Formats: sequence, C-alpha cells, structure tokens
Amino acid sequence: MRINENYLNVKESYLFSEIARKVNDYAEKNPDKKIIRMGIGDVTLPLAPVVVEAIHKAADEMGVKETFRGYGPEQGYDFLREKIVAYYKENTIRIDINEVFISDGAKSDVGNITDLFDKDNLVLVPDPVYPVYVDTNIMNGRKIEYMQAKASNGFCPLPEPGVKADIIYLCSPNNPTGAVYSYDQLKAWVDYALKNDAIILFDAAYEAFIGDSKLPRSIYEVDGAKRCAIEFCSLSKTAGFTGTRCGYTIVPKDLKVQITKLKKLLKVDSDVVELNKLWLRRQTTKFNGVPYIVQRAAEAVFTPEGRAQIKENIDYYKQNAQIIADTMDEVGIKYFGGINSPYIWLECPGGMRSWEFFDYLLESINVVGTPGAGFGKNGEGYFRLTAFSDRESTIEAMERFKKLMTPAPEPQPEPEPEPKTEPAAEPAEAELVIEEPETAPEEESEE
Ligand code: MLT
Repeated sequence: MRINENYLNVKESYLFSEIARKVNDYAEKNPDKKIIRMGIGDVTLPLAPVVVEAIHKAADEMGVKETFRGYGPEQGYDFLREKIVAYYKENTIRIDINEVFISDGAKSDVGNITDLFDKDNLVLVPDPVYPVYVDTNIMNGRKIEYMQAKASNGFCPLPEPGVKADIIYLCSPNNPTGAVYSYDQLKAWVDYALKNDAIILFDAAYEAFIGDSKLPRSIYEVDGAKRCAIEFCSLSKTAGFTGTRCGYTIVPKDLKVQITKLKKLLKVDSDVVELNKLWLRRQTTKFNGVPYIVQRAAEAVFTPEGRAQIKENIDYYKQNAQIIADTMDEVGIKYFGGINSPYIWLECPGGMRSWEFFDYLLESINVVGTPGAGFGKNGEGYFRLTAFSDRESTIEAMERFKKLMTPAPEPQPEPEPEPKTEPAAEPAEAELVIEEPETAPEEESEE
C-alpha cells in the first residue's frame, strides 16, 4: 500500500486550524481575557426567521410517513434549483436548471471539482489566495503558478502574455484582499480562457456583498463565460449558513472540452465532452446530496421575505466593515477592501510581519485576525480582519485597536530572511512562479 504522497507536500495544517490552535492555547493560558475573534470569516448573526421557519416545517415533514424523504437527487431538489435559476435571471443571466448543482458549500466544490481534471494541467492562482485552491491541487500533484496580486494592480491580476495556464482560479470579491474585478477585467480573463482552451474556476462566494451595481456579481455577466467558466456560490456568508452548509455550483452545458485522441479511441465517439455531464457523473457517485431540511432552508433564502431578511444581515456586516475602515483611517493604516466585501486587508503597521502582528494583537489587545502571510508570499506584511463579528465586539475591538495604535508602533528593524516556505522563491515583480511539489509523484493519484 502506498499513500498519496502529494499530501506530504501540503502545509502541515490548514491556515484556520493553525490560527484556532494558537488562539485556543492563548485562551487556555489566559482564561480571564476577553478574546474578540475577527480571524476566520465565520458569521455571528443567527439564521433569518424565514429560514428557521422553513427548517421547522421541513423537520416536521420528515417526522410524518407521508411527507418523509429519503435519498434526494444528488444534484439537489428542483424546488431550490428553480429559485437559483430565477436569482440569476434577475441579473439577466439565463441558467438552465440542469446547470445548477446544490452543494454543501463552495469550499467543498472548489476542491472536489479538481476530480474532473488531469494531473498534467497547469493551475494559475493569485498570490495571496484562499488556501483551498492551492492545497487541493497540491494534493493531486498538479503544478501551480502564482500570479502576483499586489497593491499596485489593486490585487486584481490580469492575464499575462506568454503564460499558458489550463485552470485559473479567480475569486471576486476576493478572499482575502476584498478586491473586486471590474467587468472589463473579467472580460480579459474570459477572452484569455477562450483563446487558450483554459477553464476559469470562479469563486463568487461573496457576491452578495457587492453593492456597486457597476461591478459584476457573476462571471456569466461576461459574454462567452459559459463556454469557459464554472461558478461557485455559497450561502455561508450570504445567509449565515457557515454551520448549516449549503451552496451551489453552476456548470454550464456549453462548457465543452476537447478530449485526447487516445481517450477518444478508448472510450467515446465524440471528440468533445461536456463538463456538466462529468460533474453530474462525479456527484452521483461521490455525493448523496444536501439534506432535505437544509435545502428547504436554502429555498427560503430566495423568497422575497428571505431576501429582505438576509439583506439586513449583510448590511449589518457591511456597517461593521465601515467601523473597521474608519478606525484604520483614524490611526493612519492603509487598507483595501471592506466596501463590496466583508474583509479588510490592511498593511501591518511599523513594518511588522504578518504573524508578528497577529501575536502582537492577540497578546496586547486580545483581538484575533488572519496573518496575510497565511494566504501566500504576497500577503506578508498584511493582515485580514473580518466584519462578521457582532457590532458590540467590532466596536470594542476597534476601541482597543485605536488605543494600541496611538501613538503608532515604531518601525521594526528589517527581519532576518526566513527559511523557505510556500510559495518558494521570491519572484521578480509581475513574474510568475512555478511551484513544483517537493517530492515528484511517481504515479498519478487515484481520484
Ligand atoms: C475565511 O475566513 O477565509 C473563510 O471563512 C474560510 C472559508 O469560507 O472556508
């Protein structure tokens, strides 16, 4: 027996597990301290009343023989898929019901989708990046290239001439930087993908936070995107489903991929394959669907009443973001995001490194954030705060922050160079870096 040795190439622990471990250690040693958590983007407001009502009703149905449900369709119940089709239609995007796949959240699907792709694809991700895109591809032994997301390009990197990627991950509004791609920028990516036979995996988990009507909430707002993009959405942040678990993935039927001659000879008579069919095939084998009760809860989110109730919650978090942003302005810290996004991406003051600032905030004011370096090399020197705490905690955290930052911390001496971490080498500005797994896999892992 051999394990999938690619797993030895991922960092020992997932970023948010590492933060939780550090915070729990600190809390154990300092039981009297009131820690305010603004690290992982976990919501604090309860589910909307209309959602709770739907859960109760569905639970009652499950307790009665006539309305009890066993296995559901792996791709989700039509009652929910129809609501999602209608939601897209409001944004003038036509999606067929069979293009909608209900999931237990965007995180699972952005990882699981890699089942459809050969190991020998070049994957392009921004740096900094939501670690799931990187980890899941390292687990499969794929090569990853990093595109440079920096303040100088508004953290929205664009296609570079000469780079030939097969799979591109984009996240807008972005986790962790809060940056949002404009229509023209997304169009540049769609044009690139169509020209290079590449696929865009578009993470739209934070689309509901976009308030500016000029900014795209879906990649399908761009013509041609249905021929090159899969979109991942989530109710986690939109409707407080981080614990309830429900999301949806759109795999358009127009998304067709040319297959290799060998595979053509062996398996099929057409030389193109619809990813929609492959994904359905994958899901029917590996997934048994989201619980009926949860799908009824999700359906309630899309009713007019549900939409009004979740909007109130989103507005509440956006006001928290404003409070954080105002504090940064007051203490003179440069930041990004926080307007069409629940994340504030700030420059660590006094030239501190990300993990140093993490320890400093935890120990001096008991506030937890996420070190930017945890999202990649370009995140070094940055720090992410989320707007998902409750109002009282956000205000208190920012009061403590203001006191700590007045006067501003002294600039730190240049840090010693660190031993090699991932991503590896320091690239030149706007250069792409190829990350090779340290141990070359001898054979393709089974998926
Ligand atoms: C985050 O804090 O980046 C997110 O909550 C993580 C996630 O959605 O998995």
